[in-house]
Amino acid sequence: MRNIPLVDLLAQYEYIKAEIQERIKDVLDTASFIMGPDVKLFEQEFAAYCKSPHCLTVANGTDALLLALKAIGICPGDYVITVVNTFIASSECITNVGAHPVFIDIDPKTYLINPEKLEAKVKELLNKKLPVKAVIAVHLYGQPCDMDAIISIAGKYNLAVVEDSAQAHGAFYKGRPVGSFGDIACFSFYPGKNLGAYGDAGAVVTTNASVAERIGMLRNHGRKGADKYEHAAEGYNSRLDTIQAAVLRVKLKHLEKWTEQRIANAALYYELLQDYPAVVLPFVSENVRHVYHLYVVRVPNRDKVMKKLTTNGIACGIHYPIPLHLQPAYRYLGHKPGDFPASEVISSEILSLPMYPELTASQIEYICGVIKTV
Ligand SMILES: Cc1ncc(COP(=O)(O)O)c(C=O)c1O
Repeated sequence: MRNIPLVDLLAQYEYIKAEIQERIKDVLDTASFIMGPDVKLFEQEFAAYCKSPHCLTVANGTDALLLALKAIGICPGDYVITVVNTFIASSECITNVGAHPVFIDIDPKTYLINPEKLEAKVKELLNKKLPVKAVIAVHLYGQPCDMDAIISIAGKYNLAVVEDSAQAHGAFYKGRPVGSFGDIACFSFYPGKNLGAYGDAGAVVTTNASVAERIGMLRNHGRKGADKYEHAAEGYNSRLDTIQAAVLRVKLKHLEKWTEQRIANAALYYELLQDYPAVVLPFVSENVRHVYHLYVVRVPNRDKVMKKLTTNGIACGIHYPIPLHLQPAYRYLGHKPGDFPASEVISSEILSLPMYPELTASQIEYICGVIKTV
């Protein structure tokens, strides 16, 4: 067996091809390219999926985070806390609204934001009289953060909570979908995500009607009413294309089934690798539904394992190889190796194995067999 990709977008396309082509044709036939009816309909359907009253689509997940911070009132000079083991979009948004990114370490078991470190950092900033205003909790790899602890700390210190749900469509914390806990949640529909468009796409979900209204304005040049040339404020051009909304509407109908298939694939990985102590398997907290955007194991001899996998036709990845505090982009913050030990240790050992709904049991058996030969 050869050539198992990390994500197989073509396998999924084959399955829904006829419907996708029909729906794209409908958009072409009506020329409703910008803010066509599918945009509103997808927003209603995705809001219902997240059990939240408001969903506003935007051009991508990065814009979702930026507009979210603006809409909840983060201003230049404010301080916003997030983790270092994430994609740079989780922190770029902070700098791009003129605020200061403040990094903290993770829980070494779940690889998610560590609530104790969060509270300690908030106290430290407040002691220095610095305006700490928000925390961005990243539901990394598809597993929800400890939302009870985060919401309670946020309540105590009057912080806004932004859920970076880019990797966690359909994940649950204590039976509730992610996106319904914080002040606002941000989703990416980048093609490889659990719910992926055929290009860039994103959305915010919120329970707060006035935050939703602000996002609606900001994403569309500050327009508020029906008048195209009346601008209540300056904004951005960050609308979701109607074609992408039409694609997402087709795919959303399958998301639950695809999520179950990811969970079943993860269960097989666990079963086949559990007696192999050299490989540390993903730890799943109680009371959550992990949706396995990525299946990330840890191995001490990662280069060797990666080489063996690739020479046997198996793709693998590292999410993410350089923690944010050690990225050249953040040199100005003055961090050094050793500042966030839990994140640094995992970044040198983590390995993402192929994970997508269409992955077959025999492919997973083959992948695990190759790993065991190293
Ligand atoms: C955790 C996280 N946040 C934000 C984003 C940004 O999303 P997008 O690529 O749609 O801008 C991503 C996407 O890669 C992500 O993984």
